[in-house]
Amino acid sequence: MAELEQEVAQKFPPAADFAAQANWNDPTIYETAAADPDAFWAGQAEQLVWSRKWDTVSEWNPPHAKWFLGGQLNVSVNCLDRHVEGGRADKAAIVFEGEPGDTKTYTYAELHQEVCKFANVLQSQGVQRGDRVTIYLPMIPEAAIAMLACARIGAPHSVVFGGFSADSLRERIHDSGSKLLITADGGWRRGGVVKLKEAADQALAGETTIEHVIVVNRTGKPEETPWTAGRDLWWHELASDASDQNEAVALDSEDLLFILYTSGSTGKPKGIAHTTGGYLTGATTTCKYIFDLKDDDVYWCTADVGWITGHSYVVYGPLSNGATVFMYEGAPDWPARDRFWELIEKHKITILYTAPTAIRAFMKWGTEWPEKHDLSSLRLLGSVGEPINPEAWLWYHKNVGGERCPIVDTWWQTETGAIMITPLPGISATKPASASRPFPGVSALVVDEKGDPLPEGGEGVGLLVITKPWPSMLRTLWGDDARYKEVYWSKFADKGYYFAGDGAKRDAEGDYWLLGRVDDVMNVAGHRVSTMEVESALVDHPSVAEAAVIGKAHDIKGQAISAFVTLKEGIEPSPELMAELKAHVAKKIGAICRPDDLFLTAELPKTRSGKIMRRLLRDIAEGRALGDTTTLADPSVVSSLKDKYTDES
Ligand code: WT7
Repeated sequence: MAELEQEVAQKFPPAADFAAQANWNDPTIYETAAADPDAFWAGQAEQLVWSRKWDTVSEWNPPHAKWFLGGQLNVSVNCLDRHVEGGRADKAAIVFEGEPGDTKTYTYAELHQEVCKFANVLQSQGVQRGDRVTIYLPMIPEAAIAMLACARIGAPHSVVFGGFSADSLRERIHDSGSKLLITADGGWRRGGVVKLKEAADQALAGETTIEHVIVVNRTGKPEETPWTAGRDLWWHELASDASDQNEAVALDSEDLLFILYTSGSTGKPKGIAHTTGGYLTGATTTCKYIFDLKDDDVYWCTADVGWITGHSYVVYGPLSNGATVFMYEGAPDWPARDRFWELIEKHKITILYTAPTAIRAFMKWGTEWPEKHDLSSLRLLGSVGEPINPEAWLWYHKNVGGERCPIVDTWWQTETGAIMITPLPGISATKPASASRPFPGVSALVVDEKGDPLPEGGEGVGLLVITKPWPSMLRTLWGDDARYKEVYWSKFADKGYYFAGDGAKRDAEGDYWLLGRVDDVMNVAGHRVSTMEVESALVDHPSVAEAAVIGKAHDIKGQAISAFVTLKEGIEPSPELMAELKAHVAKKIGAICRPDDLFLTAELPKTRSGKIMRRLLRDIAEGRALGDTTTLADPSVVSSLKDKYTDES
């Protein structure tokens, strides 16, 4: 234990040979960017091709920002055409491996062709600039092709994670008003097929804005796929007839590029709206410098395209940089617990970007799995999605990085579009579990409840805020600007700070340590889940009167969902009913939201004003001594709950 503490206190400066070749190795970049953030970001935007240069770098009418006003560009041109024309036509853009082991490589020229064809398909189906398209696909190259084709014709996409349920898909289609849905017959997961088309059909039952469904044939059993003639169309049939020439639309910098739904502290998901020029500038710049991307890298970000990490660091960031992106469809433990290490060895992956929850699972499985493989191609590792504990950081460093690879622990959010707080691998001395410093051009502070910053130089804990607009920030919530103002900007409205919803510590050297959410949002295996959303799903069940949900500390997932449920009068508790309630949540939202524990109770602990005291439920679930109970309306509720909970868990 003492040994561990010593290692944790250790600092890991970049190795001299790494720093010497790094894309950034001069620490003055921080000061240069801070002195004039607009000039810094404009310099970065110059890396992109613009069909019309901007007139104004940024405009800030709090809380609304615009970047590169008057500029015009196309994201797919930046991710494809410029590389095809610039000497990378035959370079691998996407190297794909499916879970069953099938592989496919697209060069930049081939990816460009596929995107042009599919852009023509979309246009022939009546999709026009500004129309929304929902994408519900597994992790297959068609997901990236569909996104880039939407970007090419100026149709904002809304990608819905393939693990979400039919109900979640329906809600997101409805909210975005999408005209077209792109899905697959299914995707491979742990040897079985996730039947996406069936879920899609359920989501479209009854009234819908969707006119056509384009279906990828992934599992090779078209005859088994449910089909609605006239509405449903096969991707491969449409694409084989389409031309591979498509003129990209020059979009305004502030045109909507995509909507991506994420959970908030209320039940209804928020449609995070990202626009074109600023988003691409942020994704391109951060990807290039944080992952130190070079032309000969084989870069693997393990996130699904259904999350923002997949948008910015599987598709847009790396392709805009002309990198080779590796993409894997399936689970890390299929067919065995060394699948990731096997893939790294086989494809000679050089950069790996994954989540702490995966690293903790690898730790539990043991070092024998990575030890079976040659991981010497790796030169940089990344972590994202939740706080990484020092033990996991050190395990990753030693057993995956061979003690030679810098680790970048990157803090950001769906809303921020790109990484905000991170080490720079050629500059920062990293500390296990610290995300280091705000990226150049990003202004952050740790403040108290009133918005006052921690005293300079001292160590302290508080709330993380971003004090100046940044290019890849969300512009609004789709269809709900009032909620946008309320959620992110009302807490420190007088100061004009963006409130991230996270607590943070800043140490005496100015490094940030992210401490997790301070609102009713859980982080389950790196996925953002709202307590209210799970509660609503439970209350939706006919037997349930009331529910309270909390995130309970969990070794691998970071947090696991614990639900406390009271049943309606006359309903008998039973193990079958408990299983049914868990399944109901999975069906309503998606399997990632299935509660780990579910506890039936006669009453929930409430304050005298009727507010459920989640803090006490968390104490109970985690087996801690109870915190302050003086505001409870009926203290006996908690003691009886605590007794029962300890008995049964
Ligand atoms: C929330 C955002 C964009 C990344 C994927 C998740 C937590 C994210 C870290 C990190 C500590 C982190 C925060 C944040 N988070 N990265 N490196 N260290 N916490 O995106 O679903 O929008 O969730 O994830 O709590 O607010 P998201």
